[in-house]
Amino acid sequence: MSNRRQIIAGNWKMHKDNGEARDYAAKFLELVGEITELDMVICAPFTALSVLKDELEESVVHLGAQNMFWTGEGAYTGEISPRMLTDMACTYVIIGHSERREILHETDEMIAKKVKAALNAGLKPILCVGENLNQREDGRALATVRGQVERDLPDLSPEELRRVVIAYEPIWAIGTGRTASSADAQEMCAGIRSTVAGIAGVVAEEIPILYGGSVKEGNIQELMAETDIDGALVGGASLDAEGFARLVRNALG
Ligand code: 13P
Repeated sequence: MSNRRQIIAGNWKMHKDNGEARDYAAKFLELVGEITELDMVICAPFTALSVLKDELEESVVHLGAQNMFWTGEGAYTGEISPRMLTDMACTYVIIGHSERREILHETDEMIAKKVKAALNAGLKPILCVGENLNQREDGRALATVRGQVERDLPDLSPEELRRVVIAYEPIWAIGTGRTASSADAQEMCAGIRSTVAGIAGVVAEEIPILYGGSVKEGNIQELMAETDIDGALVGGASLDAEGFARLVRNALG
């Protein structure tokens, strides 16, 4: 636990139509709509943003997207610009999720451009980094993640870096039910913070670092108790409004 602002973000991935999103938002607000001790974020599919913008307006729950393109407008069929997201009242955007790196072949070069573009548009990027099982077993987990942080956050001013959120998501823990132990997650998040300190000095102390990978109601408290873990990026356990509300309450301790 640190004195940095804590964040619990749900990543719905490719789930929920507009009716489901509307019902979820109403129920979630009823359950946690008065919580201000930490920041709650729902990162929804693009198609649900308009409905959620209306439902979450003036609430304590922030809205985020799961991806975006790096230029303002143009001939980029199928892409969504940063301004389209701010127009939907998004304040956060996930960048470089491992599913996009692996399935859609997003490179660090593309991810770095997206981080910069998100910051230019006034969005807070949630940059995802994490090693796969081979890299962990070969003892290369920290080196992998350090490399990603260095390649994905080049040439940013301290003011820009202050608005970045980093999510450490070991690929072997995503959707597998296998969570990193809180000690391992702490070690990796501390390594990420020291990498950021190498780029940006003391600003690293201000950056929220989240853990993601099979986070549930039952393990959130233990993870949040670690010094360098400032919250969580939650996939499967964010899909049920009541369960996610309980997870948020457990995060409060
Ligand atoms: P799970 O919580 O389903 O393991 O997903 C983690 C994740 O990828 C969040 O971005």
